[in-house]
Amino acid sequence: MKTMSASKERAGYVVRKKGDYLRETIQHFDIKKKHDVVSIIEDYGAMAFSARSLSRASRIYDQMLADADCSVILCLAGSLFSAGLKNVVYDMVEHNMVDAIVSTGAIMVDQDFFEGLGFKHYLGTSMVDDDELQKLHIDRIYDTYIDEDDLRICDETVGKIADSLPPRPYSSREFIGEMGRYLDEHAKNRESVVLASYKKEVPIFVPAFSDCSAGFGLIEHQLRRKEHVTIDSARDFLELTQVKMAAKETGLLMIGGGVPKNFAQDVVVAADILTGKTRMHKYAVQITVADERDGGLSGSTLKEAHSWGKVDLGGTQMVYAEAAVAFPLLASYAYRKGSWKGREPRKFTRLFPH
Ligand SMILES: NC(=O)c1ccc[n+]([C@@H]2O[C@H](COP(=O)([O-])OP(=O)(O)OC[C@H]3O[C@@H](n4cnc5c(N)ncnc54)[C@H](O)[C@@H]3O)[C@@H](O)[C@H]2O)c1
Repeated sequence: MKTMSASKERAGYVVRKKGDYLRETIQHFDIKKKHDVVSIIEDYGAMAFSARSLSRASRIYDQMLADADCSVILCLAGSLFSAGLKNVVYDMVEHNMVDAIVSTGAIMVDQDFFEGLGFKHYLGTSMVDDDELQKLHIDRIYDTYIDEDDLRICDETVGKIADSLPPRPYSSREFIGEMGRYLDEHAKNRESVVLASYKKEVPIFVPAFSDCSAGFGLIEHQLRRKEHVTIDSARDFLELTQVKMAAKETGLLMIGGGVPKNFAQDVVVAADILTGKTRMHKYAVQITVADERDGGLSGSTLKEAHSWGKVDLGGTQMVYAEAAVAFPLLASYAYRKGSWKGREPRKFTRLFPH
């Protein structure tokens, strides 16, 4: 490759280096800034389409926080944190606006833990030579770039954490707690959801934990160690169901769809099977770009979820919008309204022996 670059350079081509692409970093949205979001969201309420549904969803989320009996479960899918939404969730955890999180591994490991280790996401473009990116070890998420060599360090760090633990099955919640403990000692950037949740005792569940950077670290660990750490996905389901059973009422705030959405909705049925009595999620909001026509879970409506006995219909709202636009507005509105102030922290990780 070196020789090819040299000959390209001699032939007058502009030959780029990694640093030419990885220049400007993604900046995370700050819900604490004095944006005038409350009046925007209120004015949206007198409009139509996504404006009105986002306005209603924001008010429902604020209602969840104002309801002393309601515990909030935040579900995350899509490439949210690499897009600049990490600190939205970080501030929600710090300000007691969320009590449990269900996420994809990409968000919690490849994006959050990754930034906790001091790595960054970079502004990029889809109008680029992907072959050149691949040769330079630059990964692309639409208009965002990531240094693949940094990601490899993230994978290895997960493997190192696994090496340091007694070999036995762990729920993803427990393992992510260990990642939080690691960041508490080694973080280069402390604005991490994994770290904040560890300190605030907010459990994070990642039902498909190996489907991300963590998987690469764990397979190396399992090959290295005859006796090794395994991830027990059924334990995750039991633990999240125990959160549901411990909470008087629950509200789901779902950003994107996928596995986290289904996992968090199914705990109502699971609690019913385990105890013979349960309450549906009292509130539910979903921001998604998926719609219901293909019958897939991600776009299935909350109205449909009621037919499965999972959500009550009073406080539900679907918002058809891209999360990088809609989620900061919703979260900033709830932050400004201040119903989170004086809210009792649930500290749900205390439900579990480990
Ligand atoms: N996304 C990544 O860059 C990435 C990287 C590594 C691993 N993975 C793994 O792939 C699996 C699936 O991940 P996923 O959540 O990215 O994909 P997904 O496609 O399953 O997303 C789920 C749903 O959320 C909706 N959605 C996603 N982003 C949205 C947005 N910005 N605004 C509104 N709606 C949005 C989608 O329409 C989709 O219906 C996970 O196990 C994850 O760990 C993903």
